[in-house]
Amino acid sequence: MKPMLLINFKTYEQGTGKEALDLAKVADEVAGKEDASIVLSVQPTDLERISGAISIPVYAQHMDPVTPGSHTGWILPEAVKEAGAKGTLINHSEHNIDKEKIEANVKKCRELGIVSVCCAATPEIAKEVAAFGPDFVAIEPPELIGGTVSVSTAKPEIISDTVEAVKSVNPEVKVLCGAGVNSSGDVKKAIELGAVGVLVASAIVKSETPEKVILDLISGF
Ligand code: G3P
Repeated sequence: MKPMLLINFKTYEQGTGKEALDLAKVADEVAGKEDASIVLSVQPTDLERISGAISIPVYAQHMDPVTPGSHTGWILPEAVKEAGAKGTLINHSEHNIDKEKIEANVKKCRELGIVSVCCAATPEIAKEVAAFGPDFVAIEPPELIGGTVSVSTAKPEIISDTVEAVKSVNPEVKVLCGAGVNSSGDVKKAIELGAVGVLVASAIVKSETPEKVILDLISGF
C-alpha cells in the first residue's frame, strides 16, 4: 500500500461544517494532483456532505457498537456507513472507550466492510488492540498531541516498539503514528521506523495554508 496521510479534523472550527468542506476539497485536490493516499476523519454531522463532495476516503472519528433500536444520541455504525464513511477511528485518545467496545467496533467494521483504525496511547495498549484484528493501529502518545514536537522526534522508540508489538500479535495489522507531526522530516522518520502512515490534525487543520502543509508532509513519503 501507498503510505497514508490521515487528517483528523477533530472539532476544530476549521474542521467543522462549511470550513470542513472547504478543507476537505483542498485535501482532495492535492491527493488527485500528487497521486497520494490521503484520508480524512470528520465529525458525524459532516460525514455525508463531505463524502458526497470529494473522491478521497472519509472516515468517522468514532462510532458506538450499538444495534439499530433504542440508543438515543449514540452513533450507529450502519448510519456511519450509509453517510459515506469508508472507515472509522476507534478509541482516539480524546474519546477513549473500554476494551470490549473496541473489540465490538472492530468486529462491526469487518461486518460492514469498512476500515478500522484503533488508536492506542502506548505500545502495550497497541498490542492489546492489535489482537482484535483491526486494519490499523495508530500509536499516539497523548502528551504530544496538539504540540509542535512530533512523536517521531520525541519518542521514536514508541513507534518501533509498537510495530514490533503489533506484528508479534498479528502481522497483518498495519501501524500508523501521530501526535505533533508537522514536517516532512517527521513523516520520513515515522516511515523509517516502520509506520505505514501518519495521523495529523493541528498542523494541517489549524494552518492558514493547509495545501502547503499537506504537500510538505506527503513529500516525506
Ligand atoms: O488524531 C490525530 C491527532 O490526535 C494528532 O493531533 O494535532 O498532534 O496532529 P496533532
